[in-house]
Amino acid sequence: MIEDQASSLRRMNQSRLIKVIAVTGGKGGVGKTNVTLNTAISMAQQGKRVMVLDADLGLANVDVLLGLRVVKNLSHVLSGECTLDEVLVEGPCGIKIAPATSGSQSMTELTPTEHAGLIRAFSELRSQIDVLIVDTAAGISDMVLSFSRASQDILVVVCDEPTSLTDAYALIKILNKEHGVFRFKIVANMVRSLREGQELFAKLSKVTDRFLDISMELVATVPYDENMRKSTRRQKVIVEVFPGSPAAIAFKTLATKIAKWPTPSQASGHLEFFIEKLVSN
Ligand SMILES: Nc1ncnc2c1ncn2[C@@H]1O[C@H](COP(=O)(O)OP(=O)(O)OP(=O)(O)O)[C@@H](O)[C@H]1O
Ligand SMILES: [Mg+2]
Repeated sequence: MIEDQASSLRRMNQSRLIKVIAVTGGKGGVGKTNVTLNTAISMAQQGKRVMVLDADLGLANVDVLLGLRVVKNLSHVLSGECTLDEVLVEGPCGIKIAPATSGSQSMTELTPTEHAGLIRAFSELRSQIDVLIVDTAAGISDMVLSFSRASQDILVVVCDEPTSLTDAYALIKILNKEHGVFRFKIVANMVRSLREGQELFAKLSKVTDRFLDISMELVATVPYDENMRKSTRRQKVIVEVFPGSPAAIAFKTLATKIAKWPTPSQASGHLEFFIEKLVSN
């Protein structure tokens, strides 16, 4: 046991510090998976080693969007059937995709064996990564909340639909009041102009300023772009197939911005810390 802890600590000290970012939004269909993948691929194009954790498996998500065939997922890692490296699927530009489990499983309700298995799986990960981006499911399930609060930064994707703003607000509120999260980064998606993005952000800020004590920043304004749906139909993402189109440029700008966000320098910058936080109540 002591030997185990010592070797895992050694590994932790050797492992590089990483950024962990959750992409969420409350509402379905606002563009979370597209924000995740386009940002991930843009960061990879900029030389970063990126892993995407697909925390919304089972529905039309990362694997479907990229036309990948996923055979094994995190549940096989938890049950000890395989290692995390064995479930990783390679995506465009060398990004690594870790298919998680279906949305119904709560990360805070793992059995002690699964809990230990998850920690071991991540501490044994051989693939070196600089950034981990977590694509979450729609809604406010335990799964969404645990992945969000364990991440260093939370991107909340909103678009100009009344339910998008109310769902985003509900998510922000619960993360703040019940999980102590106080920093949120907003991505305004499918907007017709920069101004529309700023107005969307202003609408959300009006409510959060009134009822919550949080800090919120508009980090990207992604235009509505017909090429997005065209790419989706081709099971590709826009930064790959239409790199010069307006939405692709917005994603590349976001990726450059994220690369400049500070990486936590202490223990909280280690992957193990993220996993510990993920599974703790
Ligand atoms: N900026 C945009 N311009 C045009 N279409 C977009 C844009 N962003 C996303 N879409 C389209 O909206 C649809 C939903 O996108 P996506 O799957 O990324 O959303 P999601 O939030 O992950 O959905 P879910 O909640 O189902 O996981 C896709 O068909 C995508 O092509
Ligand atoms: Mg999705």
